[in-house]
Amino acid sequence: APVLAGRDFLSNLDMTSSELRAVLDTAASMKRGEWRSVKPLAGLSLALVFEKASLRTRTTFDVGMYQLGGHAITLSNQEIGLGKRERVSDVARNLERWVDGIMARVYLQQTLTELADHAAIPVINGLSDMLHPVQLLADYQTIEEELGDASGKRVVYIGDGNNLANSHIHMGVLTGSHVTIVTPVGYEPNGAVLLDAVRRGAEVTLTNDLAAIDGADVLYTDVWISMGQEDQAELRRKAFQGYQVTPAMLDRLAPHGIFLHCLPAHYGEETVPEATEHPKSRVFDQAENRLHAQKALLYHLMGELKPRW
Ligand code: CP
Ligand code: NVA
Repeated sequence: APVLAGRDFLSNLDMTSSELRAVLDTAASMKRGEWRSVKPLAGLSLALVFEKASLRTRTTFDVGMYQLGGHAITLSNQEIGLGKRERVSDVARNLERWVDGIMARVYLQQTLTELADHAAIPVINGLSDMLHPVQLLADYQTIEEELGDASGKRVVYIGDGNNLANSHIHMGVLTGSHVTIVTPVGYEPNGAVLLDAVRRGAEVTLTNDLAAIDGADVLYTDVWISMGQEDQAELRRKAFQGYQVTPAMLDRLAPHGIFLHCLPAHYGEETVPEATEHPKSRVFDQAENRLHAQKALLYHLMGELKPRW
């Protein structure tokens, strides 16, 4: 039965460890094809709101709704002008009259909170400048497939202390993985996210030292220049010198270690094509799992809803 009925998913910490367990189990079962003839979201619609570009998030939520028997409608910011053409609270109060859920990719986490506050339907964070929680569901599905239980595993994130780094820290709280964030000085993850995670008992390490990579179970990176930071490109490329993931770096992982990247990759910056093609790379399995993990999330958030029409 759905374990997240009536909730929003703005952060990984919007679910408990046992709810995460249920979602990842459902995701694995969906990947095995066990839900092929089940249409738990028949008659339901999901709005996909984008302030920024997307390949994976847009495609997987759309295909995911279709496979679960529902329907998705994509709304680019050119169309709806979130907060510009129309205030966010009005967008929320319109959408809730027509659709059964909202997935939104935005700049400010505050925009998601505002949508959630004004819409009675589930709101899902499809990436904000602060967090990327749906990505981490797919990432931990991939980690479990390769390495089993994530508890106690050393997950090393290298690069910018950005939305991905913050969500990695949240997953340390939920799964008991030992998360290390390796960044240049000045590019550490969000301080409030870190303090909260430590207070909740997570084992999180911040360092500027590449030695943290040695023996890691998972090495993860993401772009140095996130969407919206294009004006800082020059400065950032300089600051991150030496933090590029190369095949030589992947040789430093544990023998069973894997390399993950949420994609898109900015080749020549945080990584190189040879890392993507390396035997330790699981980046395309990870991308595939966006579909399975988000279908599981959608089922658990919306699976109890009945068509209102
Ligand atoms: N990883 C990810 O979210 O990809 P998109 O930006 O293409 O959606
Ligand atoms: N940190 C990147 C992730 C893209 C999926 C960004 O926010 O642009």
